[in-house]
Amino acid sequence: MQNIDSYVEKNKDRFINELIELLKIPSVSADSAFKKDVLKTASAIKKSLEKAGCDHVEICETEGYPIVYGEKIIDKNLPTVLVYGHYDVQPADPISLWTSPPFEPVIKKTEIHPEGAIFARGACDDKGQMYMHVKAMEFMTSTDQLPCNVKFMIEGEEEVGSVNLAKFVKQNQEKLKNDVILISDTGMISKDTPSITTGLRGLSYVEVEVTGPKRDLHSGLYGGAVANPINVLTKMIASLHDENNHITIPGFYDKVEELSDEERSQMAKAPFSLENYKKSLDIDAVYGEKGYTTNERNSIRPTLDVNGIWGGYTGEGAKTVIASKAFAKISMRLVPNQDWEEITALFKHHFESIAPEGVKVLVKPHHGGQGYVTPIDSIGYQAASKAYEATFGKTPIPQRSGGSIPIVALFEQELKSKTILMGFGLDSDAIHSPNEHFGIWNYLKGISTIPLFYKYFTELSK
Ligand code: BES
Ligand code: MN
Ligand code: MN
Repeated sequence: MQNIDSYVEKNKDRFINELIELLKIPSVSADSAFKKDVLKTASAIKKSLEKAGCDHVEICETEGYPIVYGEKIIDKNLPTVLVYGHYDVQPADPISLWTSPPFEPVIKKTEIHPEGAIFARGACDDKGQMYMHVKAMEFMTSTDQLPCNVKFMIEGEEEVGSVNLAKFVKQNQEKLKNDVILISDTGMISKDTPSITTGLRGLSYVEVEVTGPKRDLHSGLYGGAVANPINVLTKMIASLHDENNHITIPGFYDKVEELSDEERSQMAKAPFSLENYKKSLDIDAVYGEKGYTTNERNSIRPTLDVNGIWGGYTGEGAKTVIASKAFAKISMRLVPNQDWEEITALFKHHFESIAPEGVKVLVKPHHGGQGYVTPIDSIGYQAASKAYEATFGKTPIPQRSGGSIPIVALFEQELKSKTILMGFGLDSDAIHSPNEHFGIWNYLKGISTIPLFYKYFTELSK
């Protein structure tokens, strides 16, 4: 494939400016205050797909936010790649910790990104990474080098569980038919160590509510004589891990697949510095399940974490009160073979069973999804590997990620195709966190690597 590097070089300022325009729209799917902006983003994506040469671009309405679909079918006998991405972003709070406003993108240099990185909510997850595909498509159509058929499906509800996309996929199997699914919504090891994500964890997300007395009480008049929901909730949560940091929910590990020593030693070969890891997070020690390394703990092992906890008085000064209720939001990251609905049921049963007398416990399941693993001997993986090799000069390392994209397992179940996760983000890009950014080097590298995936995938499919 010719000219990609010179095309990127010639157009890079425009590529950056177009992404900046997209990042200015606050498409926060979790907060209904941003509804107009989320819809505006869908229209902007539609226009960008049309400009990139897609046909039949449409905004597909759902019960929630719309899915933007577009395609370029050049020959029914050629393979078809389905590109998936999301145009919604996480809430930006806490805003006060951003060094520049989350929806006023600016380019700043960092130690890891001396060429500059775009700072904005969604810069990496996933507007920046999704837009690399739009620009790669623009290159292929405008230079008449598209080697196969392409379908784009960009949704607006990934960060809130993709519930409506799941329905859309089930109802549109023929429209979405493909030979491989391509996603850039993950990361790689570092700028000089390319990697391809071969696994994602599943997820079960629940909210718990502990209720004690029917109203808030004076903590002097009643303290010590009734169950304090906050004391009880924290004690219940603490009991969910034992002294080795194993999760204590009966049956939780039953279906967890243990990796062989061979697989674990393969994993351990990926470059990793514990010292740098600790330094980057400003911690003096890592923490986790006994018997596993840091990289195992955050990828091949299931976890349970409190994501938020509240109740009682948290305002200025002191108020002497025993709250009537206490709450927490809890996520469990799951590994392949663990079924998220089964785990949710195990959690619910266990959490209710450990409630002491004097409180009522309610467990409300939120959303979830299954984990995913993909073999490295598939044509899709091989094509991606060759593409990275060409642009990075190194064979990428297969690596299982700790994050979740639940729709990937559903794609496999409904569309019967494998997903290739070509991520160009870095762990230090601070996704979901204040000061999220995406390196300009990574953005442009993605745009020049993606067209090669199409080329090699088409060649290997023959
Ligand atoms: N893009 C992320 C997932 C991700 C990031 C996977 C980096 C691997 C590496 C995605 O947008 C995300 O945030 N997913 C959520 C789950 C979803 C159901 C809200 C997650 O992992 O918390
Ligand atoms: Mn994402
Ligand atoms: Mn995300």
